[in-house]
Amino acid sequence: MEYLFYNIKHNVKNLTPDYILTNKENTVKLIAEEINDITSKLSNGSLIFISGLPFILGNVTEFLTDELKFNYWISCEYLPTNNDGDFPLTHFGLLFLQKKESKKPIPFKLNTKEYRVPHTTCPSCNKLTKDWGGKKHTMNPLGTAYSDVWYIGDELDKINDRHNKKIENIIHNLIGIDKKLELINSDIVYDDRKIKTSHNIESDNVIQFFEYDNKVVNDDCVSFIDEVVMKHPNGVFDIAFSDPPYNLNKNYSKYEDNLRDKEYLDWCEKWIYSKYQSLKPGGSLLVMNIPKWSIHHFNFLKKFMFFDKWIVWDALSTPAGKLMPAHYTILHFVKPGGRKKISKTSEMIPEKSYCLRNTCISKRKDVQTVEVTDIWKDCHRVKHNKNKNDHPCQLPIKLLDRIINKYSNENDRIFDPFGGTGSAAVSSKINNRNFTITDIDDKYCNIAETNISRVKENLLGIKEYILEPTKIESKTKSKYNIKLVEESYMSLCEKSNKLLTLEEVLILDVTLHSKLLLYPKKFSKLQSMTTRLKLV
Ligand SMILES: C[S@@+](CC[C@H](N)C(=O)[O-])C[C@H]1O[C@@H](n2cnc3c(N)ncnc32)[C@H](O)[C@@H]1O
Repeated sequence: MEYLFYNIKHNVKNLTPDYILTNKENTVKLIAEEINDITSKLSNGSLIFISGLPFILGNVTEFLTDELKFNYWISCEYLPTNNDGDFPLTHFGLLFLQKKESKKPIPFKLNTKEYRVPHTTCPSCNKLTKDWGGKKHTMNPLGTAYSDVWYIGDELDKINDRHNKKIENIIHNLIGIDKKLELINSDIVYDDRKIKTSHNIESDNVIQFFEYDNKVVNDDCVSFIDEVVMKHPNGVFDIAFSDPPYNLNKNYSKYEDNLRDKEYLDWCEKWIYSKYQSLKPGGSLLVMNIPKWSIHHFNFLKKFMFFDKWIVWDALSTPAGKLMPAHYTILHFVKPGGRKKISKTSEMIPEKSYCLRNTCISKRKDVQTVEVTDIWKDCHRVKHNKNKNDHPCQLPIKLLDRIINKYSNENDRIFDPFGGTGSAAVSSKINNRNFTITDIDDKYCNIAETNISRVKENLLGIKEYILEPTKIESKTKSKYNIKLVEESYMSLCEKSNKLLTLEEVLILDVTLHSKLLLYPKKFSKLQSMTTRLKLV
């Protein structure tokens, strides 16, 4: 097995927040061709790492050979570059690929048991920054396991070998090789981009009355949007956000979350394009997904929209055993023809060395604050039962607040085609925006309606969300189906390409995790069965 590290140089100084990339296709193709050429000389199973600014790396992937199979997209965090009030750029992408001539799995080891990120303590409460909650026994004295977000901590605009040495060292230690990685520094400098020109045609496009303002619509999103676009061909929404199913075989009550890759991506292109049409010129399209799919969304969207931000939501998982996918990508694109809306007020948050414990937050004084960058680490997943609905992937309201406050004004229209528990609608209501959400599942629409009704004005006239979970029990209590639980676990392992621990299942599928806790046999037996069937 051979190892290669390819670094795409860039010049961050020339970056501006508004740029388009399509005119640089040839540069990107040259980089991809060089990587493809080197790959053809490597042995089957070789590991290839390619680093670069996220949108450059995303572009390059479009032209890479099919022999290079996706393992991980790692987000490498640096120090913020600019301070323009627009989520400053602070990360690099590191694509971790493997050369595979056929579909046959080629195992490689990651040394995440011994090589770990050392613990840090919170400057305010002196407790460890990472909170294990009631599960302190899972804490490893050597530190937390590596996830797919790495903190590098240097300045992003000083590109030199030292930066790569840090990444290279981590790779070295993780894959446990003593041989030096072959490092190639691409000398194609990608630093010249066209500044977006925009004009404002918002005034031509004011829709006073929209029949779906503040509505939860129980429908397939594509047919719904198509109907809206027929009536309002110039678009109606200011933000179209989406958090679609990720094709990870999650346990939705109606939607089957396990399409073939091509089928899934074709379906995504359909709703992404419809969503784009439903936006007003200058409107914001945000799409959240796991990095593997986000790369495809990026390459699709760049063809007709202006790229703006590659945001990383580090969802603070508890990685266990192997490098654990912990982050989601939120891509932000702007519809041409209008001015991008952006609040120039920077949201300030406590500096990253502070912990996120509520008890500590309420007691802190003189906290050092920093501007929110394009890596978000301070939005907890919805974990505690008291906040959780009967839905496998409910988003925290804080995450939606951040997006809505940055990219829209009061009374604007926010659309979420995959509404789920209504997080986008709740946030819109709190922040005095109009919302329209759709969900194919009537059960989730009911949960969303209840959640929206929980936003109430307090005595000071400020809207608040009163937390209380909505559990809608089915009338006939379903019996525990051992076979179904086993199959779901095996299929999740197969998709993740690894034997999952209970903790990892918790991150990927909360419902399956709760069922596994009731599993009447030994969990280790189920794991051995999964290995015997060669599913991982
Ligand atoms: C990842 S979840 C969204 C969760 C949501 N962001 C929240 O915070 O609760 C995806 C949702 O899409 C819904 N869905 C799947 N296919 C759909 C379709 N064709 N049209 C509308 N909704 C769909 C599912 O029922 C599920 O609730």
